[in-house]
Amino acid sequence: MNTRAVPNVVLITGTSSGIGLHAAVAAAVAGHTVVATMRNLEGARALRDAAATARVSLDIRRLDVTEPDSVTRVVAETTERYGRLDALINNAGSGRVGTIENETVDDVRAVMEVNFFGVVAVTRAALPHLRNTRGRLISVSSVGGMIGQPFNEAYCAAKFAVEGFMESLAPVAATAGVSVTVVEPGAVASSFVANVGRDLTEGGPAGDPYAAPLAAYLARAASSFSAAQSAQSAGEVLAGLLDGDRPAFRVQTSDGARRFVAAKLADLDGSAVQAMTAAWLA
Ligand SMILES: NC(=O)c1ccc[n+]([C@@H]2O[C@H](COP(=O)([O-])OP(=O)(O)OC[C@H]3O[C@@H](n4cnc5c(N)ncnc54)[C@H](OP(=O)(O)O)[C@@H]3O)[C@@H](O)[C@H]2O)c1
Repeated sequence: MNTRAVPNVVLITGTSSGIGLHAAVAAAVAGHTVVATMRNLEGARALRDAAATARVSLDIRRLDVTEPDSVTRVVAETTERYGRLDALINNAGSGRVGTIENETVDDVRAVMEVNFFGVVAVTRAALPHLRNTRGRLISVSSVGGMIGQPFNEAYCAAKFAVEGFMESLAPVAATAGVSVTVVEPGAVASSFVANVGRDLTEGGPAGDPYAAPLAAYLARAASSFSAAQSAQSAGEVLAGLLDGDRPAFRVQTSDGARRFVAAKLADLDGSAVQAMTAAWLA
């Protein structure tokens, strides 16, 4: 990717809103050719409006990361049209608040499908093309991919899986000239919270033994989201990884996210993180 002046060809998943939308626009503003994908093109209005405001054009295509055919089709269409793919940003994802006693295994599987197997599928389709360009593979994880957060078991498991997958892949891909990066936002103001798939105030079933800790968790989450990083700022961090020196393996999008992840990396026996997250439920 450093061997060629812009425009580079960049494919981004989940660009209908939030971080992905802003990353797509910022990458186009920086001069890249952006294939901005989303699972439902009827949701493209906000992206089209943002692109028009920024006076850039985007190649908007439908891609659902859980549909293997749409993944392989869009990657093939991209390389046919532009002759190359220089970077993939795996951004699509969705949260889920809950705890396993109140959920089914299928609920957990659905979270893994989007947040982990979706990343695996798009990565697998893109890698041969990224090898050809010695390109960049960038995946949006989360601080929840480093620290297991209460009532986020399935989501954190999926993001931990992304981090493990990418950390294992990174040295292998590097032998073919492809850099691998995971990006760890903290709280970001986007549609993410609204999209966790349930009313967060409703709690569990009658007599739910976890009702009180869930209420405490939600109150803390509401307060941390009141100081959230903007989706534009996080998207710009993401787009910035497309230019210049190859990024590090692990990148946080804010100082708050850096401090949070640093706590985990210094916590050899897990007790500091357990003390911190247990306090959120008191
Ligand atoms: N917001 C945060 O606090 C936060 C913190 C850490 C990490 N993250 C991560 O940041 C990434 C972007 O999230 P965001 O905050 O920008 O939230 P968002 O505004 O809800 O954006 C998520 C995007 O992913 C898309 N998506 C969901 N399922 C998909 C599927 N099966 N196929 C393709 N696209 C799909 C959504 O599309 P639809 O519009 O169709 O639903 C949307 O475009 C995610 O990976 C998320 O886990 C977010």
